[in-house]
Amino acid sequence: NADVEFPHAEKKTMADHLRKYESLLTLTPQRMRMIVHAIEDTLDNGLRKDGQVVPMIPAFVFGWPTGEEKGDYLALDLGGTNLRVCLVTLLGHGKFEVTQTKYRLTEEQKQDEGQALLDFCAECLDSFIRDTLGRTDEDEKLPLGFTFSYPCSQERIDHGVLIRWTKGFGAPNIEGRDVAAMFKDSLTRLNVPAELTALINDTTGTLIASNYVDPNTKIAVIFGTGCNAAYMETAVSIPKIDKMGLAKDQGMAINCEWGAFDSFDHQHLPRTKYDIIIDESSNKPGEQSFEKMIAGLYLGEIFRLVVCELIDAGDLFLGQNTYKLEKAYAFDTAFLSLMESDVTDELLTVIGVFTHFFGVETTIEERQFFKKLAVLIGTRAARLSACGIAAIVSKKGYLEEGCAVGADGSLYNKYPNFADRVHTALTDIFGEKGKKIVTHHAEDGSGVGSAIIAAMTKARKDSGFY
Ligand code: GLC
Repeated sequence: NADVEFPHAEKKTMADHLRKYESLLTLTPQRMRMIVHAIEDTLDNGLRKDGQVVPMIPAFVFGWPTGEEKGDYLALDLGGTNLRVCLVTLLGHGKFEVTQTKYRLTEEQKQDEGQALLDFCAECLDSFIRDTLGRTDEDEKLPLGFTFSYPCSQERIDHGVLIRWTKGFGAPNIEGRDVAAMFKDSLTRLNVPAELTALINDTTGTLIASNYVDPNTKIAVIFGTGCNAAYMETAVSIPKIDKMGLAKDQGMAINCEWGAFDSFDHQHLPRTKYDIIIDESSNKPGEQSFEKMIAGLYLGEIFRLVVCELIDAGDLFLGQNTYKLEKAYAFDTAFLSLMESDVTDELLTVIGVFTHFFGVETTIEERQFFKKLAVLIGTRAARLSACGIAAIVSKKGYLEEGCAVGADGSLYNKYPNFADRVHTALTDIFGEKGKKIVTHHAEDGSGVGSAIIAAMTKARKDSGFY
């Protein structure tokens, strides 16, 4: 409590405040190592039994691509912010071409009836196939990989029961149901000339797409609206799929859904009161605890809550009208990126953000504070996600040889210094050896990855497996 920390202070300076937030938001190497161990245990539990908090979902993608997968595939990507439709032509030798169209999803659509949301996806796909590609009912139906980036438990690749919505989605009558079957229904009813071949997660797609072009890639992470990872496990290390009769050394991609780490019990993560407010006012209280401290959907909101706390205490914007800042989720994470990129003496971009978007005037001390606060929030997110990567690395014994981690998503691609901070954290956790774990911008997993998986699935079916 701030009042206890500074009992005699008349008015706290921005530097006093900064010290408090530094201590709340900084993760020491020691603390990170504890989190790594806890994540590792959680991942193991998920592989052992069904129904665990972090579900470790077998993705029915069997082993790595050869790089020689070829052909035309449709990819539909329902991520968190946009809907994207692509035609991917795989050319072999790890090469490909992509034609794509993006559609923005409205907040209403995210809360619409589940089937209506899928119908909308099918309609966009239909217009892409007919209008953009100029194909008709006479043409052969193209195979489709559907990247549906929410936790779905799968029994086969063209099946997936939505365990729960994440990332603020809340469409009713779809949780607990087979999304692939519901989507096939949309395709048939709306007469869309496409055949659903595979339902995949963006992390699995990213894993396969990155490995297609760089076989050193062993792990994929998405740092976007949500945060999650996938890697390749061997069948023998996934006790819960014992009955499938796979060869012991058969590879199986695992969609970790690590965003759910520490949900409900909240025993391991150093949550602040801002994290708790975000959680309790979300449409899924208690869930996705790890994700809520890391992902792009939430970082701007953490920042806004701190700013509002200072406004309430009378330490910021006294006498100014702050109603625009008081609206939940008004402070987009992109503003944090912008502020962190500002290297001008006066912090002109920070001025711009606060005057243009929120109608408030700032002093230079306040602007310096805002930039440093953004650094603290962005760094904590990077360091926490490094803990997740470290858990997979240590579990798989990748530290000796080193490995590449394919990474994608708006935070990774656009947030200044995010990748460097992840790398620094990996050395803080592992010492010098941590330098052998290197993240790189991944290939488009939801488009290209989904096409490669559709191709791998087709090849597998053609050779008599299902
Ligand atoms: C959320 C979803 C997960 C997805 C991630 C990144 O964590 O639950 O399926 O991979 O966001 O998009």
